[in-house]
Amino acid sequence: VNPPPTLSKTVLFGDKTTPIPLLKSRVNHSLTLSQEQIACLLANAFFCTFPRRNSRKSEYGNYPEINFYRLFEGSSQRKIEKLKTLLCYFRRVTQTKPKGLVTFTRQILNKAPNWESCQTQLTRLHITCEGTIEDNGYGMLQVDFANRFVGGGVTGHGLVQEEIRFVINPELIVSRLFTEALEYNECLIITGTEQYSKYTGYAESYKWKESYTDETPRDDWQRRCTEIVAIDALKYRHFLEQFLPEKMTRELNKAYCGFFRSNANNIHLSAVATGNWGCGAFGGDTRLKALIQMMAAAEAGRDVAYFTFGDLQLMRDVHKMHNFLTDRQVTVGQLYSLLNQYSDTVCRNCHTARPDVSLYNFIYEKISSPATANASEPDKDSGISSVMSDFC
Ligand code: APR
Repeated sequence: VNPPPTLSKTVLFGDKTTPIPLLKSRVNHSLTLSQEQIACLLANAFFCTFPRRNSRKSEYGNYPEINFYRLFEGSSQRKIEKLKTLLCYFRRVTQTKPKGLVTFTRQILNKAPNWESCQTQLTRLHITCEGTIEDNGYGMLQVDFANRFVGGGVTGHGLVQEEIRFVINPELIVSRLFTEALEYNECLIITGTEQYSKYTGYAESYKWKESYTDETPRDDWQRRCTEIVAIDALKYRHFLEQFLPEKMTRELNKAYCGFFRSNANNIHLSAVATGNWGCGAFGGDTRLKALIQMMAAAEAGRDVAYFTFGDLQLMRDVHKMHNFLTDRQVTVGQLYSLLNQYSDTVCRNCHTARPDVSLYNFIYEKISSPATANASEPDKDSGISSVMSDFC
């Protein structure tokens, strides 16, 4: 396969004798494998044939686990449903050899934006409490709410957003073989994986439903036009910790690292399909993270499609805030300094678990003149089509 020049830096792994290149920390690097090669590697992972990968003390201690042995330990319903999903994949690829390619790119943010002085205004927002990133994010950059060891607990007990995506698109799992743990300014972009299963439920209630035929078109490289970016949020044990300036800046840079593209100035970038990133297992605040992701997407030149995963009030609050900020042409830089003011004046002196003034009320008060202190309900769509489902 002769790759187009844009991906010429990609290593097209084809030689049978060379070892698979590693996507090591602090190195920008791309690796393209055929779906057939991936199936072979995953079959090895299923039979746990990868040596020196079963202990954190080995030379691969800073890589995720790849062998599936933990999936065979115990008999939890979760693991049974995960195995059903994976066996559906193996049945499909052994019945019909997949013919596409998948590219794995480790991207480093070498120079973070100077957030304080960003003049960018927020881009368009489509927000809904219905649907999911994988079902409704077609053609968009779909966010994987990752662990820094990509895939998180997919070969073990975990079964929330990242693990579910990794078992219904199992080609994602092979990234664990060669992707070292993500640093604070790194992300992993995976282009071309195929969805092989449909599921129901979530976490404890997750169930494999049926085999799924992915009709997503392929690009010139025979890769499914599905672009997923793994970005790992920080885990917070205490609610207020995430409002520390350095924590908010870290999350802004991590999201921006996932959303930006170095060749962006000459191409239109698709919207980001995201949601409550870092706000489930990692304990983050949904309203803060929604703002952070909208700021990062704006700076990266992308619109946002936000799936609140059933949270109707969150949908209303974020939509109202987005309208309020865009009506007043508030810049990312102004928002960044408001976040830091909130941290400094409200959170720093707070002695309870949660501040008595919410972030959004603080922003409304700071920006509004008295006349508009209670920002009226939005009277116009601010974005592509801000879906305000009346019910969920
Ligand atoms: N589409 C949109 N939103 C979703 C979806 C989905 N398919 N699945 C879940 N969500 C929402 C839910 O509201 C959930 O609480 O995203 C929230 C965060 O999901 P988590 O997976 O808990 O993400 P996070 O808090 O970032 O925790 C990451 O969990 O999956 C592991 O490996 C991952 O260790 C990492 C940690």
